Amino acid sequence: MDDHCDIAVIGAGAAGLATGIFAAETVPTRVVVLDGAATIGAKILISGGGRCNVTHNVVRPDDFNGARPVVRNILAAFDEHATQRWFASLGVPLKREDTGKLFPVSDSARTVLEALLRRGAALGVGIREQHRVTDVVHTDCGTFGIVHQHGLLRAARVIMATGGCSLPRTGSDGGGWEIVRRLGHTVTPTFPALVPLVLQDGFHAALSGLSQPVELATFADGALIDRRTGSLLWTHFGISGPVVMDASRHWGIAHAGGQRVEMRCNFLPGHGFEQVERLLMDATTARPRVSLQRLLAERLPDRLATALLAAARLDPSARAAQLSRPQRRALVHTLTAFVLPIVRARGWDFAEVTAGGVPLAEIDYRTMASRRVEGLHLVGEMLDCDGRIGGFNFQWAWSTGYLAGRGAALAVRAAPALSRRVIA
Ligand code: FDA
Repeated sequence: MDDHCDIAVIGAGAAGLATGIFAAETVPTRVVVLDGAATIGAKILISGGGRCNVTHNVVRPDDFNGARPVVRNILAAFDEHATQRWFASLGVPLKREDTGKLFPVSDSARTVLEALLRRGAALGVGIREQHRVTDVVHTDCGTFGIVHQHGLLRAARVIMATGGCSLPRTGSDGGGWEIVRRLGHTVTPTFPALVPLVLQDGFHAALSGLSQPVELATFADGALIDRRTGSLLWTHFGISGPVVMDASRHWGIAHAGGQRVEMRCNFLPGHGFEQVERLLMDATTARPRVSLQRLLAERLPDRLATALLAAARLDPSARAAQLSRPQRRALVHTLTAFVLPIVRARGWDFAEVTAGGVPLAEIDYRTMASRRVEGLHLVGEMLDCDGRIGGFNFQWAWSTGYLAGRGAALAVRAAPALSRRVIA
């Protein structure tokens, strides 16, 4: 099959669907979205535990890892308020949860996907599943040739929306980066981000299922590279939960770079070493006969108190007053700077997003157009920008999709000759 369109979007994930819709809303043009997967929107459907955390109540450039000035401009063009208005106009009102995350009122990711597909269909956006793209080439008549599993599609403009490598079984396996590399782009090294961390067997075995607030500090070759507070979840393999997911990219990148990485956990966030030592001493003075287990369990889950005392090689039934100074300081150290025995990140199959990708310096933030390839635009996760947990990565997809869709459609309108030649 050999066919034509004005704008071809490669990848029908969040960013690709948004791009297709915004392009067709801006100017009536023939837009085709190609996706290699058999069913569209697998990642949207499983996102946010099946509820799809569409965006966040407040979205700031600081919520992202990526070139800040560029991120700022992209978010300013289509911010979280625009996202809320847009979804309301699609029939998907959003509600805010205490964490600031915004979910559909329906609590169903399916309503998000269906609204996007419905809007695309109403605008005449052609969505073709099972159309894996293997290459994008320049043709003799100045258009792009999109080589897919059933033939060739020609288009005046191409938007690459193939995502990263996270959860490859949904269809996002990094193949898009090979295509843009061949076209002349660079791709920075990529790493799983927002990913759980696997711990050495032993310590965490008895803690599975527990969740608690902690402060995590990550050090690479002795220097602090990340510090954050939030909820940690103990699991059968190690640790997860928002604070771990957010910190994981920093651990993973430093580890892959051959640095000596240490993630230290403060189980009493907001309390430093001296403060905790003072708390222990005061408690000992007030209640010299209280057991260590009891003392710790007043502030920590019981099972964690047991595990930490074992890690500090202390007898849980020992009286607080029996602690020697070195023992007390060892316990305080365990409570405030426990070195998590991390073996590895859990890998792409469990990562929510990708760190790394096409540098933002290689795109024009006003239209997401490539600075290297005339007529090409790039959106979403394939770019070198990743957000923290909380709806920020979808916001990135909507914002970049808005700019690219509008930008590509206006470019098609500005160059009707080229577009006529393509459609003819
Ligand atoms: P995405 O990966 O979604 O889409 C890329 C599309 O391109 C896929 O459909 C793929 O099949 C297609 N494709 C790839 N290569 C192709 C090729 N060569 N030819 C044709 N098609 C090709 N974020 C958030 O903000 N809130 C949340 O609640 C969650 N929850 C969440 C849960 C889980 C389990 C995961 C894995 C991720 C999240 N995320 C999230 C992250 C969010 O899902 C992610 O940031 C966006 O889906 C990225 O959108 P993209 O469209 O850029 O890529």
